[in-house]
Amino acid sequence: MQTKVTKAIFPVAGLGTRFLPATKSVPKEIMTLVDRPLIQYAIDEAREAGITEFIFVTSRGKGALEDYFDHSPTLEQELRRKNKPDLLEALEATNMDSGAIAYIRQHKALGLGHAVWCARRLIGDEPFAVILPDDVIAAEKPCLKQMVEAYAETGGSMVAAMEVPQEKTSSYGVLDVREDMGSLVSVNGMVEKPPADKAPSNLAVIGRYILSPNVLKNLNSIKEGAGGEIQLTDAIAAEIAQNNGVYGYRFRGQRFDCGSKSGFLQATVAFGLARDDLRDDLFGYLQDVVTMGQAAE
Ligand code: G1P
Repeated sequence: MQTKVTKAIFPVAGLGTRFLPATKSVPKEIMTLVDRPLIQYAIDEAREAGITEFIFVTSRGKGALEDYFDHSPTLEQELRRKNKPDLLEALEATNMDSGAIAYIRQHKALGLGHAVWCARRLIGDEPFAVILPDDVIAAEKPCLKQMVEAYAETGGSMVAAMEVPQEKTSSYGVLDVREDMGSLVSVNGMVEKPPADKAPSNLAVIGRYILSPNVLKNLNSIKEGAGGEIQLTDAIAAEIAQNNGVYGYRFRGQRFDCGSKSGFLQATVAFGLARDDLRDDLFGYLQDVVTMGQAAE
């Protein structure tokens, strides 16, 4: 059983309509939390988990994403001339080794399962990770690294999981739990966006996956599911039917739903407060806002 995970797929083809008009010309993955684009958080997390090959599933209008990972000699030269080592270091984190990053187009918006399937030839026959950059996870040990470690013990396929309020289950893939072992649960089934009263639990799938290459084979024949889309959840659930292990992993960390405006704002505040250079100013401002809010009541 191969459990070393070196490839990750980043599905970044979505239109980001929830952030229009900004996303008319800026890919949503380039939108910044403090001063780093969402995609940078995802890449850093992948690197720390040992990923060395990065596969982006993109679409029309995502050119800025490709440019972001290029070297920018003029900018670097200028920063060197002005003696700005900190900024140079920040830039270096955006550079990729030649050949480490691949872009493949999803030609039609047929769903997350279809986006992942578009990368099948680049994955071949080994386990791989999927990271949804909308889900930003602040954690002492990065979420995917936690999962890679757990996966070395379990094999099979693994999804990040988190309890959500029952009424929110219709926004997520939801796990039907077979055995709850604490941070790890084994899974009997998975349903994509069930109505709240039909959800098998309130344990939701969060956008980190380590998948058996067999999931890609399942995607060859998966039909449209929830929302009329080809769902990754259904292809993972098909593993269970074939008696291949599927696990949920309750990660340690705080997840922000940066696919929603409110989640994005919360993440901005949280990441701002975590920064030494911003904490005092921002905290003072937030205190003022709260005090003024209370005064207004
Ligand atoms: C996707 C997945 C869903 C998962 C969610 C986590 O849904 O299809 O199973 O729970 O990400 O963020 P989306 O939010 O893209 O609709």
